[in-house]
Amino acid sequence: MIRLDRFLCDMGIGSRSQVKSYIKKGQVTVNGQVCTQSDYKLDECSTAVAFGGKELHYQRFHYYMLHKPAGVISAVTDRKETTVLNLLRDAPGKELFPVGRLDKDTEGLLLITNDGKLAHELLSPSRRIPKTYFVKTAQMVTEEMIHQLKEGVNIGNEKKTLPACVSRPEEASNPFLGDTENLRDSSLFLTIVEGRFHQVKRMLRAVGNEVVYLKRMSMGTLKLDEGLKKGEYRALSEEELRQLRELTGMGE
Ligand code: URA
Repeated sequence: MIRLDRFLCDMGIGSRSQVKSYIKKGQVTVNGQVCTQSDYKLDECSTAVAFGGKELHYQRFHYYMLHKPAGVISAVTDRKETTVLNLLRDAPGKELFPVGRLDKDTEGLLLITNDGKLAHELLSPSRRIPKTYFVKTAQMVTEEMIHQLKEGVNIGNEKKTLPACVSRPEEASNPFLGDTENLRDSSLFLTIVEGRFHQVKRMLRAVGNEVVYLKRMSMGTLKLDEGLKKGEYRALSEEELRQLRELTGMGE
C-alpha cells in the first residue's frame, strides 16, 4: 500500500507539494473517481490512478537509454552547463541519475535510472562490466598500438589497464565509415572492463595516438539503439532490463 501523493511523486508527476496541490484541485482520479485526499492509501499494483485524465502505471524504478550528444555533461544539475537530465525533462521518475559518466565531448549510450542498486552493480569494479566504444583517432592505428591496448597500458596509475578487446571496423558493414572517408586505419572498437577517469583517451595517448571522436556503443548487455537520434531517449524494454539484471546477479 502507498499514499496517493507518494504514488504521484514516484511517477515523477511533481514534487510532494506540487502533487498535493494537483490532488486538492481535483486533477487526480482513483478508480475513476476524483480523490482529493493526499494521504489516501491504495494498492499500487491494482488501483487505477489517473492524472489529468491519463492513466499511470506505477513503477518505483525507471530505466532509460539516452543517446548522449556531445556538449552536455553527465550530471543531474549544473548551474551553467546543460546536463543529461535536462534532456529527460519529461521522463517519468523522480531522482533519476546517470549510471557513470561520459565526458562532455563523448557521445553514445548512457543509462539513466533511479535504481541505485542496479547502478552500483553495473559500476562495481569487481563486476568488470564490458563497455564498448567506437573511437576515431588523430593518427593511424598501428598493429603495435592494437597489441599494446589488448595487453594493457600504463595510463599513469600504479596498475596497467586490464586487457581490452580491440578490433578494426569492417568497412563493408560499418555505418561510421562513409564512402569518401577512409577511416579504417584511424578508428577502432575498444572494449574495456574498467571505468577509470578518461580511460579511453588516456589509453590511446599511452600508445602514442589521440582520440578525436568517442562514442559508447554498449554497456554490458545493453546496446545503443541506433534508432535514437542524438539527444533522444527511450525506456528500456523488459528484455533489456532482464538481461542487465541477470548480468549483475540481480535476476530473479
Ligand atoms: N573514456 C574516456 O576517455 N571518455 C569517456 O567519456 C568514456 C571513456
